[in-house]
Amino acid sequence: MVRQVYIGALICIDDNEELIIKENAAVFVEDGKIIRVMENPQTSQQGIDDDISDFLTIFLADDDEVNILSREQFMIPGFIDGHTHAVQFPNLGLGYSKCLLEWLENYTFPLEREYIDTKFAEQVFEAVVKQTVKMGTTTACYFASLYAEASTILARKAAKLGQRAFIGKVNMNAPRDDGYCESTEKSINETVAFIKSIERIGSPLVRPIITPRFALSCDMELMQELAKIAKEKDLHIQTHISENKDEIAAVEAAFPNQPSYTAVYDAAGLLTNKTVLAHGVHLADSELAILKERGTAVIHCPSSNTYLKSGLCDVQRLKANSIKVGLGTDVSGGASYSILDEMRSVLRVSNCLSLTRDNYTPLSYKDAFYMATLGGARALSIEDKVGNFMAGKEFDALIVDLNVKDSLLNNFRKYTLEENFQRFIYSGDERNIVSVYVSGRKIK
Ligand code: GUN
Ligand code: FE
Repeated sequence: MVRQVYIGALICIDDNEELIIKENAAVFVEDGKIIRVMENPQTSQQGIDDDISDFLTIFLADDDEVNILSREQFMIPGFIDGHTHAVQFPNLGLGYSKCLLEWLENYTFPLEREYIDTKFAEQVFEAVVKQTVKMGTTTACYFASLYAEASTILARKAAKLGQRAFIGKVNMNAPRDDGYCESTEKSINETVAFIKSIERIGSPLVRPIITPRFALSCDMELMQELAKIAKEKDLHIQTHISENKDEIAAVEAAFPNQPSYTAVYDAAGLLTNKTVLAHGVHLADSELAILKERGTAVIHCPSSNTYLKSGLCDVQRLKANSIKVGLGTDVSGGASYSILDEMRSVLRVSNCLSLTRDNYTPLSYKDAFYMATLGGARALSIEDKVGNFMAGKEFDALIVDLNVKDSLLNNFRKYTLEENFQRFIYSGDERNIVSVYVSGRKIK
């Protein structure tokens, strides 16, 4: 593979969680990996121009593929969607008069049953991967389907279209009248077969993730068996936790011997430093202590938490308790598959919390950007691979351009790069994301 060099403005969060803004940087990429990041010592507000790139020419080789960003462009790390349901994309925007448990029964489970039809799965999943890539999602952590065949189809689509993805075959063995469940034996056998099918796809970008749906869908035996598989194969794990008060009460009733929702998963062995738990809205202090001890992350899903009236998750409290926090669109609990939209939900929810509490510092747009990039990478324990532009990581990046046709953002006057970045976070959209790269491959 030829060496690629990206020259222009660069913005990311560094390993100390500081916002890094380089007006004139050069990122050298070889075989998908960042091998060096340089910055022009004579940084100017004007962006790259000919004499500025002089300093670089001594480092460039003749056969380098050089990509020079325009003055209105900057590069940022690709977005990480730490929790979304590929099967639920057709229901986007539907059913929000309900709360979680009724919404699942009335809208979600009936849709999910349709994925027994692999043609339907092919159609939907092709669109899911294409659309999320368009929004700048370079890593997605997917709940796929109860059905292993459909789940493998999603994995193939991600591999083909070049998105980095965790794909979970959903496990549910709690008996249901409508038959939307499976026996313990089938659940385990299909999970093992699914993992093998992903190995056969052979994409370094696509990995299986163990996915018990939530404690109301699985009994202790199944959850323990799944935890064993995860341990044996060193796999990630994802599930839902403490999203809605009725759900929590039902979990307490189903597992009367366990002191909390978190304790149920802990007893099953599901809480590891490669586990991500969606929501975590109503966790007690004692539960946070367990999550911290296990190194387990919470994926904050503020759009879903507000549309389904689940609650306002206090991210500052999670952070103060040393819990890793990523960001998830939770489609179709959330009504958008854009992580940019989700960042705005982070900010609105945090602002609302600050209105009702004393001494509450609302999260900043930089905090939201952290959660969408490095924070998500840390939550998924893939910060050695992605999340920012440190040398040694893979080049998962977005080129943002504020000067595109029909953009909400205009150029009536000049702004600093930091101001333009802020404007993008609050008011940009996918039209401003002009290129998407995963591991150095351009996928948009
Ligand atoms: N809890 C169990 N299943 C689901 C789901 O599909 N969406 C959400 N938001 N919560 C869940
Ligand atoms: Fe979810």
